[in-house]
Amino acid sequence: METLIPTINRLQEVFLTVGAEIIQLPQIVVVGSQSSGKSSVLESLVGRDFLPRGSGIVTRRPLVLQLVNVAPLFHLHCILNFLSAIHSFQGISSEPMYLKIFSPKVLNLTLVDLPGITKVPVGDQPEDIEAQVQEMILSFISNPNSLILAVSPANSDLATSDALKLAREVDPDGRRTLLVVSKLDLMDAGTDALEVLLGRVIPVRLGIIGVVNRSQHDINTKKSLDDSMKDELSFLQRHYPSLASRAGSHYLAKTLSRLLMHHIRDCLPDLKTRVTVLSAQYQARLNSYGQPVEDHSATLLQIVTKFASDYCNTIEGTARHIQTSELCGGARICY
Ligand code: GDP
Ligand code: MG
Ligand code: NA
Repeated sequence: METLIPTINRLQEVFLTVGAEIIQLPQIVVVGSQSSGKSSVLESLVGRDFLPRGSGIVTRRPLVLQLVNVAPLFHLHCILNFLSAIHSFQGISSEPMYLKIFSPKVLNLTLVDLPGITKVPVGDQPEDIEAQVQEMILSFISNPNSLILAVSPANSDLATSDALKLAREVDPDGRRTLLVVSKLDLMDAGTDALEVLLGRVIPVRLGIIGVVNRSQHDINTKKSLDDSMKDELSFLQRHYPSLASRAGSHYLAKTLSRLLMHHIRDCLPDLKTRVTVLSAQYQARLNSYGQPVEDHSATLLQIVTKFASDYCNTIEGTARHIQTSELCGGARICY
């Protein structure tokens, strides 16, 4: 099942090469207020700590992460100097940066990390920072092919969640929004997030998944991600025994992969239509040049459309086996 996503990633590359957003491919976009834990959630999905994290507006421009699962023989490698590029940049930019990560430890996913929602400009930030960031986030999540990962900390009221509010603007029916409740460990003594996680406070159609990521202290003392995941699991077993098997970073990764697969399947008919239409358009244009096109002189676009439709067929074949019941397996799906 997971072999479908490298195919989609490959398609995305090919279409980028052709030089246009010909097809909007599915991706997972992380939104939430500043310091809600977005980058921490992403890094737990990636399994490596390389994302800029901390207080203040750390992520200044969209970061598109393509996670590629490879055999253990390959080393994890990524563009390491991208961090300095992020840090040296002063303002906010909607121009995304692309980062590809090859690792045996990741599921095949494309993720977008966005700057957090802010309210008040600080330091060198422009006066209209809230509007700027909001506009940028909306531009990513309004793409109907984006799955929205709304991150909201457990220690603040879900009713005031900026992440959910923005997600609702573009996805009122909640067809492509998943809620991640971060910082379960930081709740006031005597309170817990059980009602929230069960969807009794605000129902979220695709599900609500609670996580515990590393605190700033954990990061400062170089606690490993592996240790963090182990501690997360034991925290969940201790505090949320009835939900432990449907919470945590590992479960989040599995759920995302499954949702993405369903999403890809849903997009296929439209994708195929667009490829066919484009193919016909270009064929008409080629014909208008008045020369027969020999097989050996196939244009890049012909190769691409052939490639795309072949893969569409492959994907469709495989996707048919995905049962809707998988999606409804969790208990936190609310209608
Ligand atoms: P972002 O601004 O939304 O990307 O948030 P970050 O991932 O950078 O996290 C902000 C701060 O919160 C960092 O100091 C993290 O260590 C901390 N943090 C994130 N998630 C958790 C969590 O689940 N528990 C605790 N205790 N701290 C967390
Ligand atoms: Mg961040
Ligand atoms: Na939020």
